[in-house]
Amino acid sequence: MFFPEYRARRLRRSDQLRRMVRETRLSVDDLIYPMFSAHGDNIRKEIPSMPGIFQQSIDHIVAEAREVHELGIPAVILFGIPECKDSLGQDAYSDSGIIQRTVRAIKAEVPELVVITDVCLCEYTDHGHCGVIRDGDVDNDETLKLLAAEALSHARAGADIVAPSDMMDGRVAAIRELLDANGFSHVPVMSYAVKYASAYYGPFRDAAESTPQFGDRRSYQMDPANRIEAFREAALDVQECADFLMVKPALAYLDIIRDLKERFDLPLVCYNVSGEYSMIKAAARAGWIDEERVMLETLTGMKRAGADLIITYHAKEAARLLGG
Ligand code: PBG
Ligand code: ZN
Repeated sequence: MFFPEYRARRLRRSDQLRRMVRETRLSVDDLIYPMFSAHGDNIRKEIPSMPGIFQQSIDHIVAEAREVHELGIPAVILFGIPECKDSLGQDAYSDSGIIQRTVRAIKAEVPELVVITDVCLCEYTDHGHCGVIRDGDVDNDETLKLLAAEALSHARAGADIVAPSDMMDGRVAAIRELLDANGFSHVPVMSYAVKYASAYYGPFRDAAESTPQFGDRRSYQMDPANRIEAFREAALDVQECADFLMVKPALAYLDIIRDLKERFDLPLVCYNVSGEYSMIKAAARAGWIDEERVMLETLTGMKRAGADLIITYHAKEAARLLGG
């Protein structure tokens, strides 16, 4: 019987040896923590489908931002739940909008923390779509003006990075142009370049109160079956001067993360989305999995696939385990 002389188990014999040959290291530097900002005072409402994640008023958001910073997490990404919604999503680009006020409050109290703002209209429109509706569908070019205005007003409020998640064609260029024309050429654009029309966003839509009131997002978000199209989307965003590319969701799209990492040289972000978080929480609550180990294994898998940064609701828990 042939037996190989090379025995792979030789390098797995002790924790020290395993540490020496470990290829992927998850670090607190890789994490971005999402937060949901709502109107009012002293509001802290847990999202039923996302245990441990809250809709919070600005006072609590600032306190949590401080906690995140003290854990060594470099950045947060903010989503807003406005008091009033309308067909044009006006709170999204108002200088007194929920996000603008939240950004100012965080930057005043925790200035070192990198504040990323999600740029989209779905949380602010009464119909729940990511843009302006014309003839029953989202009008791309009308929406671009509003998205650019939203990004500019976030930058004026002090956002360090703007992150468009709407999936309109040309939005990175539209945002870049308006930021540059107004003295914000130093503010990077983190593009949700490859964003699929995914059922994994379900719990987020409860959290952000952004479920479409008719139809779905398949006329602007990508078909989950497509891979080559992801390269075209990413290439367009590179041309339009995006500073980061993102793949979203992460877990069912690890192949796309790997492909983008190999083809493009911008920092690559993946979004470990709400449904991915909720699945781990639910299985852990049922006593079916070891929550901490499954979480770290999942995040490590995203890094191994090629992600440089991970937006994750697990960020605080992971930072504690990684020892900031
Ligand atoms: C809004 C937006 C969504 C997410 C981030 N930004 C939802 C959507 O497109 O419906 C999803 C995040 C998550 O599920 O955690 N455009
Ligand atoms: Zn949206």
